[in-house]
Amino acid sequence: MFEQVTVNREVFGNGENLLICGSVMKLPEEIRALAGKAQCVYVDPPFMTGEKFMRRRPYGEKGWRTGTPAPRYPAYEDRYTSEKQYLRLLRRIASVGKGLLSETGVFYLHLDWRMAAPARVMCDKVFGKTRFLNEIIWSYESGGRAKRYFSRKHDVILLYAKSNKYFFDLTRVPLPRGRVRRNHMARGRDEQGRMFSRITSNGKEYRYYDDEPVYPGDVWTDISHLQQRDPERTGYATQKPLKLLERLLLPVTNPGDLVADLCCGSGTALEAARQLDCRFAGLDLNPEAIAVCQNRLPPKDLTVACPCGGEAALLAENDTENGRFTIGGLEVSHPDFPAKTTPLDSLESWETGVIRDGVFYADQSFRRSFRYPELQQSLKTEQAVEAVMTTDAAGIRRAYSTK
Ligand SMILES: C[S@@+](CC[C@H](N)C(=O)[O-])C[C@H]1O[C@@H](n2cnc3c(N)ncnc32)[C@H](O)[C@@H]1O
Repeated sequence: MFEQVTVNREVFGNGENLLICGSVMKLPEEIRALAGKAQCVYVDPPFMTGEKFMRRRPYGEKGWRTGTPAPRYPAYEDRYTSEKQYLRLLRRIASVGKGLLSETGVFYLHLDWRMAAPARVMCDKVFGKTRFLNEIIWSYESGGRAKRYFSRKHDVILLYAKSNKYFFDLTRVPLPRGRVRRNHMARGRDEQGRMFSRITSNGKEYRYYDDEPVYPGDVWTDISHLQQRDPERTGYATQKPLKLLERLLLPVTNPGDLVADLCCGSGTALEAARQLDCRFAGLDLNPEAIAVCQNRLPPKDLTVACPCGGEAALLAENDTENGRFTIGGLEVSHPDFPAKTTPLDSLESWETGVIRDGVFYADQSFRRSFRYPELQQSLKTEQAVEAVMTTDAAGIRRAYSTK
């Protein structure tokens, strides 16, 4: 018989990567402990849009297989009582970010037209004007068009260094030069047949080969926002494209470095860090964000600190005679779950493990995905399963123990 218990921390493998539910305004101990250790801090905070964002998440096997049902759940509120209150958040993000960085580290702050200007002044104060490296304009085409002014079609990403020892290797993000139009230059072909544009200045010839790389400047027009049916989409509003984060992280990190995101949302920066063999630490105020990240990131060497949710009975059975453990689902109701539902449908993922000193140490983990919409229901065990952690379709986590 499994009884519901309160466990707010779950550890997979060596637990070195972090997913922490908490506010940057009241920094959790796990993040505080990383002071001086991060090579890159990227933060994409709310932009002060005044909106209330929702997330869409497939429900049960059919939802993951076909895209419906996919109920909408509240994600986060981007509402502040005043500009002063919002700027307090940004100042805190910048000073915490600076404190987390090592001497070679850099800080990115991702905003849009609304608050980029005051943020620049504020970051100049926190980091020092001489630590400002650049502001990147990420330009895109999606969204509506304005009629009474030129459409606002870019985000601003401020880049600051912790010290003048900062690490940055631009050669890691080459772009194909291709056949760029250079009307003032003559065209040519060398002995190997390579095409180039050329210009002569002070008697010296300069050649620009079509097949040589160029390096990005500070206006990026070649990365689009995620499309409706993009396989990368998690359903979390304001999710950024992986390609953008890869370009931001590649020149400033090496494998094994720590990347921190203080408003991690769906975990794009964390996933990009993981793909670059970096360690990561993600913080978000919102348990929904932590659930989305957990679904997105492989359950490997990960610590998840997030409060457990409401009560629900777990239908699970240890068959010690035949060495099997079977999970039937959760007896759970939620206002956003479709009416006709089976207990297993409401289950999004589950893990088995042991609970020691209030921490759940996971050994096996099962979750739905577009690739594997069906949730594995049973497993072979040598010993009876002691503890189970579940996450339901609304992202609510619960822990159960036989002891
Ligand atoms: C723009 S979204 C981040 C999106 C993310 N970059 C992605 O690609 O999915 C901003 C996030 O900041 C979080 N947030 C807002 N206030 C916060 C706070 N005080 N501390 C930590 N996170 C916060 C919100 O819950 C939201 O998930």
